[in-house]
Amino acid sequence: MVYQVYLRSFADGNGDGVGDLAGLTARLPYLSDLGVTALWLTPWYVSPMADGGYDVADYRDIDPVFGTLADAADLVAAAHAHHLKVIIDIVPNHCSDQHPWFRAAVAAGPGSAERTKFWFRPGRGESGELPPNDWPSKFGGSAWTRITEPDGSPGEWYLHLFAAEQPDFNWDNPAVRAEFVDILRFWLDRGVDGFRIDVADTLVKDSALPDVASLAPGARLPWEDQDALHGIYRSWRALIDSYPGDRVFVGELWMKPLPAMRPYLLGDQLHTAFNFDFLGAPWEAGRLREVIDGTLDAIGAAAPWVLSNHDVTRHLTRYGRASTSTRWQPDAGPADLALGTRRARAAILLMLALPGGCYLYQGEELGLWEVEDIPAELIADPIFERTGHALRGRDGCRVPLPWQADAPGFGFGPADGTPPWLPQPREWRQLAADHEAGDDTSMLALYRTALRLRAALAAADDASPGDNRLDWLDSPAGVLAFARPGLQAVVNLSAEPVALPQHAEVLLASGPLDAGLLPPDTAVWLSRG
Ligand code: NOJ
Repeated sequence: MVYQVYLRSFADGNGDGVGDLAGLTARLPYLSDLGVTALWLTPWYVSPMADGGYDVADYRDIDPVFGTLADAADLVAAAHAHHLKVIIDIVPNHCSDQHPWFRAAVAAGPGSAERTKFWFRPGRGESGELPPNDWPSKFGGSAWTRITEPDGSPGEWYLHLFAAEQPDFNWDNPAVRAEFVDILRFWLDRGVDGFRIDVADTLVKDSALPDVASLAPGARLPWEDQDALHGIYRSWRALIDSYPGDRVFVGELWMKPLPAMRPYLLGDQLHTAFNFDFLGAPWEAGRLREVIDGTLDAIGAAAPWVLSNHDVTRHLTRYGRASTSTRWQPDAGPADLALGTRRARAAILLMLALPGGCYLYQGEELGLWEVEDIPAELIADPIFERTGHALRGRDGCRVPLPWQADAPGFGFGPADGTPPWLPQPREWRQLAADHEAGDDTSMLALYRTALRLRAALAAADDASPGDNRLDWLDSPAGVLAFARPGLQAVVNLSAEPVALPQHAEVLLASGPLDAGLLPPDTAVWLSRG
């Protein structure tokens, strides 16, 4: 059970308005009480923060806004004392344009060895004024930016699949490969328990850099060279396995559907990859069942279930909309937050009843929603600018957490500190962690109880650890009902109340039952008797 910490929005220890390692360390008891067993931390490295830390300038040091290497050591030690593993983000596809290698490459000029660590190419057109090919940036616009050469002339272009401040490494260069093995070792030697690999599927490019428009329909994209990647991940896995203890090696295959993930999970490569099919599924019984079956058939429980992360609209808001699956919705209309909350409560009972691991995204346990009215001048996500303001980007799911209902900034940082870096909705007062902790009906109480019960059921089922069994039960249309060791789960996604199957006891319900019937958008765990 992994809890994702989006570091700059989790808790601010030093009062500068931005979350940091000291803030996280101080809140470890909360995470341990919640019942999670591991933390995944978004990047903590030195970074100009053009993409919230996914633009790394030094992979072997901590950004001062987050703390120091000593703070990182303290955090790892304290997490271990709470029996929490620490998984860190590794960003191997690209670095920052302020990384010393990139600066050296710009300074060294065309044809230099320094430039071969990246993808520099002359432009097309009469005077090189056009990008070298038609690849798009995933954040909008072209994936190429032109530099000014050291002599002041308009120069070569460099590739960046994301923001212009994030130049892509050239993984054909052995120096790049050696560098990352060394970086992994650096952090393994400091006691981290695993790695989450950022955009794990795009590192290696087709060096011919063909235009996408020139490809046959259905052809593999030229920035998705799986064959070369398998060797890289096998060697990383061997390195990780050479360290004592159980480690986690998880890949983020940016919004990839399951079949495309599968090759990375075969053999001795990644342990897991995020299940974006589940995250992207609409609140609809048929599709959810298809995704659950598809996942279990394809890879067992190797793809952990996940509802939200720092890149998508919070699921509570998605589930409150007419269209419940889309990630970034420029014109999705207002969400019904009461409906979204009811469904989010049911969804967590669905997810936690499934076999295998789960990832929780910070704040979902408080019932936070997507903040969709952040003033334009405060939006920091590069997607906003790169799409010419067509998409507001991902800041709405990154708003700093409310910890204390009656403190300034809801206790995100010290009372006399700078306000949180993004404004929190006033209504979050009732969602503050201290407020919810005293309320048995809160989202936090539901998460705590469900996680505790889930752990107890898993422990009682020790005859078959890691059991992937899931038996579907007969159920009315629009209802998901299945049996797992120790429990039956029923989720009503239909518009009508339904009768419960035969059971001994109601273990947990996401909302009140109605004269013994399960109301719409409600889930229940039953003991099988
Ligand atoms: C995926 C990360 O989750 C996202 O936040 C980031 O912007 C891109 N990779 C680029 O690093």
